[in-house]
Amino acid sequence: MLELTEKVIDESRQGEAFAPSAVEAVGAKRHFYIESYGCQMNFSDSEIVASILAEEGFGATRNWEEADLILLNTCSIREKAEQTVRKRLTEFRKLKRRRPSMLVGVLGCMAERLKAKFIEEEKLVDLVVGPDAYRTLPQLISDADAGQKGVNVLLSREETYADIAPVRLNSNGITAFVSIMRGCNNMCSFCVVPFTRGRERSRDHVSILAECRSLFEGGYREVTLLGQNVDSYHYVADDAAPVTFAALLEQVALISPGLRVRFSTSHPKDITDDVLHTMAKYENICKYIHLPLQSGSTRVLQLMNRTYTREWYAAKVARIKELMPDCALSSDVIAGFCTETEEDHQDTLSMMEFARYEMSYMFFYSERPGTLAQRRYTDDILEDVKKRRLAEIVAVQNRLSLESNQRDLGATFKVLIEATSKRSESDWMGRSSQNKVIVFPKGAHDLKPGDYVNVRVQECTQATLLGTIV
Ligand code: SAH
Ligand code: SF4
Ligand code: F3S
Repeated sequence: MLELTEKVIDESRQGEAFAPSAVEAVGAKRHFYIESYGCQMNFSDSEIVASILAEEGFGATRNWEEADLILLNTCSIREKAEQTVRKRLTEFRKLKRRRPSMLVGVLGCMAERLKAKFIEEEKLVDLVVGPDAYRTLPQLISDADAGQKGVNVLLSREETYADIAPVRLNSNGITAFVSIMRGCNNMCSFCVVPFTRGRERSRDHVSILAECRSLFEGGYREVTLLGQNVDSYHYVADDAAPVTFAALLEQVALISPGLRVRFSTSHPKDITDDVLHTMAKYENICKYIHLPLQSGSTRVLQLMNRTYTREWYAAKVARIKELMPDCALSSDVIAGFCTETEEDHQDTLSMMEFARYEMSYMFFYSERPGTLAQRRYTDDILEDVKKRRLAEIVAVQNRLSLESNQRDLGATFKVLIEATSKRSESDWMGRSSQNKVIVFPKGAHDLKPGDYVNVRVQECTQATLLGTIV
């Protein structure tokens, strides 16, 4: 049971293969296959990689057995994420024995963390390319064709891939992710991201706006602005005043009232009143904030180097609800961080109750090599205890999610239709501004994905609202 829960919440999007129809170039000489793990940033990076490879004449394939180049875009956030990739590599080994000319490349955070060591450890790997080095892929591939293993894990202070138009992969044609910054300057003691992604840098706002505009013109109706810490977005053009996140958000919202805007992730210490006022001002900026708590204990938060206290976090939640009473909140929570006591754990549970999250991503602590926590503290909470605390956290969240959905019964929401429901051909699936999934009968209305429609909620489960068009 616990295994399953951890799997569902920890790896729901891990190992998704991309099938980019746009680059299924007819007559392409060679084909690549790409599989992505980890956070949205990685999925977004895979779209940059697809674009770089398409320029080189590579076509995409859904079938890894017929690929000339297999790429894994990897994640290092927890040990389990890395194990999944190792397992996948053993499957590719068999194919490589039959087809030695096929290349296997490891991209992303695990490539960055392990560097050339990857090639010593996993002999079948031909390419190891870090998140800031994707422009060098064509050269590395041609070196590898000539029998030379290719490694480039240089991190950059400038690279944002601003000028590369991502090839939308596995897209529903309605919602898209737009990367607005890279790296992270925070030093949360448990986290590898600052080591695998490097220093924080913001992408030119002009290129962000151009990308969002072109998505809207191409029929997309929702963009999610992505970064590890979007609220510290800060772009300084040579001759103009700096652009803050609040200003960027407003500019994207002004593209069209028909374009919904979301963003992720906000660090509680950085989300400003400016951002909240901008959200409140524009109907098309979705009333949903992912505001990771990590722990509800001030003592643990300090060890985590999160730079806020329990009280500070609670005040932020209260401020959000004050300015936007209908704003939904979600969180990331870690169970069993170094030295965590039962009392600390209870503090986490009570803060979850206070914030009434609609949804959370919940993990137990996984020690990562090289992080501050690994160097300074002992990973001293027994696995059984971590799992029990995680189960309690999951149980509280499940109840909060259900209660939140029950509060919506009878209410009407403006829904953006994304697709036909996976469960039934005769139902649509869409989301409310609060990011809740709503399923409802298509009926006789002439609607299509990308349309907005008002839906009244009549039933719910913990995960889904069920309603009818009004
Ligand atoms: N930049 C985002 C988080 C990126 S990582 C933020 O600051 O909120 C996503 C989540 O993974 C984190 O919020 C944290 O809850 C979890 N995480 C990170 N490192 C972890 C570790 N070593 N063990 C368990 N969970 C971890
Ligand atoms: Fe990791 Fe903290 Fe940066 Fe998020 S803000 S990526 S948790 S270091
Ligand atoms: Fe994983 Fe790297 Fe994202 S470690 S969570 S893929 S930034």
